Amino acid sequence: MPRPILIDTDMGVDDAVAIALALSSSEIEVAGLVSVAGNVAIDQATTNIGRLLGGLVPKSLPLVARGLDQNLPGMKDAMHVFGEDGLGGIDLAVPPDFALSGFLEVYERLARQHGHALTVVALGPLTNLAAVLREKPEALAKAGQIIVMGGAIWCPGNITPWAEFNFYRDPAAAAAVLSAGLPLTVVPLDVTRQVAMDESHTAHLSRGGTRAGDLLGRMIRLPMERKTEQSSPGSFIVHDAVAMGVLLWPKLFMRSKMGLEVVTSGEPAGRCKPVVVKDKSRQIGVVISVNVGEFMENMLEQLSQEKFVV
Ligand code: RIB
Ligand code: CA
Repeated sequence: MPRPILIDTDMGVDDAVAIALALSSSEIEVAGLVSVAGNVAIDQATTNIGRLLGGLVPKSLPLVARGLDQNLPGMKDAMHVFGEDGLGGIDLAVPPDFALSGFLEVYERLARQHGHALTVVALGPLTNLAAVLREKPEALAKAGQIIVMGGAIWCPGNITPWAEFNFYRDPAAAAAVLSAGLPLTVVPLDVTRQVAMDESHTAHLSRGGTRAGDLLGRMIRLPMERKTEQSSPGSFIVHDAVAMGVLLWPKLFMRSKMGLEVVTSGEPAGRCKPVVVKDKSRQIGVVISVNVGEFMENMLEQLSQEKFVV
């Protein structure tokens, strides 16, 4: 029985890789996709969900909803990495039957329908999850697991010296979600930054002959060419795909449990600090290592249906 998941996403290229991994897995049912502002503005993130579904043509269309913007002044986005459109500028059309539900209703409906079997995978700022906590608190509490790509714990940030981008974009939301006693697993920059694709990987995707491999091979080209705060030209870090890998291939990851605090104001806003928490019910699962080689092999084989290492 495939495991139902709800993906909350700010729809950059690494989000697209993560979503393509989930859609190509026979063990996962992508039941919902909710957009959030972050890499790109909320309307572009919402359109990008439609564009990606139009490009991947999944067997069944998930519920799709437009989530929230952060409306915080002066916030940086990631268009300098992913291009103006957020998906590497490739030509993708929104399907004609692309329809939107309300995001609170999608969270509530999937939590009620699937209960503990539901996994929420948050790949962008936690703005929507904090809103669900406020408006529909019983919904998130019903989910069995919430995987969050975010935070920089023992390493420098990737958007300021202290903060990882998703927690930087909405530090108050990150602080609220991390302190709510939810069944969280945080996948921090400390781990995700170890997984960088290069041209050998994109070449493998492009020649694999699958729709996902071809589309992602083209989509990754732009961010791979760009020098960013975090990666040199010729490499592309797939942060969100690593977070999805925690669900798909849990044995490739080591976890710890700890308290995590998020700084919510001032220059270091978004910084994520480990704190000693004796009450085990208030501790959060934190991924502390990944088997990079096995992860990369699994990801490339799943997206291209062709063995990477022969
Ligand atoms: O810091 C990396 C995270 O920020 C990823 O989710 C990427 O897509 C951006 O949202
Ligand atoms: Ca993201």
